[in-house]
Amino acid sequence: MSTDSAIPMVDLTAQHAPLMAELREAIERVVASGHFILGEEVERFESEIASELGVAHALGVSSGTDALLLSLMALDLAPGDEVITTPFSFFATTACIQRLGLRPVFVDIEEHSFNLDLSRVEAAITERTRALLPVHLYGQLLEPQALRALCERHGLRLVEDAAQAIGVSRDGFAAGSVGDYGCFSFFPTKNLGCFGDGGLVTSREGGLADRARLLRGHGARPKYHHLEVGGNFRLDAIQAAVLRVKLPHVRAWNAARRRNADRYDTLLAAAGLPESRLRTPGRVHPEHNFHQYVIRSDRRDALRNHLREKGIASEVYYPLPLHLQPCFRDLGYAPGDMPRAERAAEEALALPVFPELGEERLRHVATTVIEFLGAGG
Ligand SMILES: Cc1ncc(COP(=O)(O)O)c(C=O)c1O
Repeated sequence: MSTDSAIPMVDLTAQHAPLMAELREAIERVVASGHFILGEEVERFESEIASELGVAHALGVSSGTDALLLSLMALDLAPGDEVITTPFSFFATTACIQRLGLRPVFVDIEEHSFNLDLSRVEAAITERTRALLPVHLYGQLLEPQALRALCERHGLRLVEDAAQAIGVSRDGFAAGSVGDYGCFSFFPTKNLGCFGDGGLVTSREGGLADRARLLRGHGARPKYHHLEVGGNFRLDAIQAAVLRVKLPHVRAWNAARRRNADRYDTLLAAAGLPESRLRTPGRVHPEHNFHQYVIRSDRRDALRNHLREKGIASEVYYPLPLHLQPCFRDLGYAPGDMPRAERAAEEALALPVFPELGEERLRHVATTVIEFLGAGG
């Protein structure tokens, strides 16, 4: 392989190529039906994905962001109520808390998993704390029993941001089945992505699922009679049809990502570099879906530039922790408040790990990383 060949972070064209006939047929079926919003296609998708994921209830919604917003709305929290969450995630996680007039309270992450450090949550609970919103980051779950026990002990609602954790289980619990609600994203680059925006709310309990269903469609029941102010959080039928074609492949795609991650681990560890220079992802349970394969390096930015020069994509998830985002200035956090998240923001680098990457390109990425860091970066 030539060193200037482009290696992307994802290759959706390659993923869709073998499915094109089925995808076309699915889209044409919806167009022929003339029914574009919710309806039978969405209902079928909801029942298929609920059984695939091992969750009791599933509701197709307009995006992962809206899944979070809808879940928090459905829990009847009051303005000023505190929601404990992680400072190291995609912006939407905290934004949804803030948008509802709730108060995000950050607790730092664990060094090895990048996930919220549950051992530090109790110290952050006050009499205004009403909910916990952890993120199963990069496709690795927080400990389900510990999460539940903590929330039960303190009477907290639990919303899981499982946007990156589709198809992942830990200790017999599926992502999205642990809390009151689970929130998934079908953004095109996710492990299960649609052809636009889409998302899912899961719930373990019928009453909660029904309340989210009501709020998803402007709180109307029956049509044009509004019991509550909800929103338009509906999934459209074309996205559901596309997702129905792709859903049966998610297990195999997740398994291919895991195999790629194992190969990276082996190749990168063989270099024997000091941990500060190159650290492979910590694994806290076997069924990680490797939505992202994230290494750490004290030469992260130089490494990223070098990879770019060699035609290899990489990405920083996330360069600025949420407690330091300009729009959350009023929350009163300062640099140094969440040292682990801040260090992760400086050291984390995601390498291409998509299912279609293949051994040759993967080896080329690993070799390029090792050569650069081994030579002093
Ligand atoms: C952790 C996390 N939460 C929430 C979201 C929001 O999902 P969406 O982009 O579908 O709104 C994403 C993905 O973008 C995410 O990675």
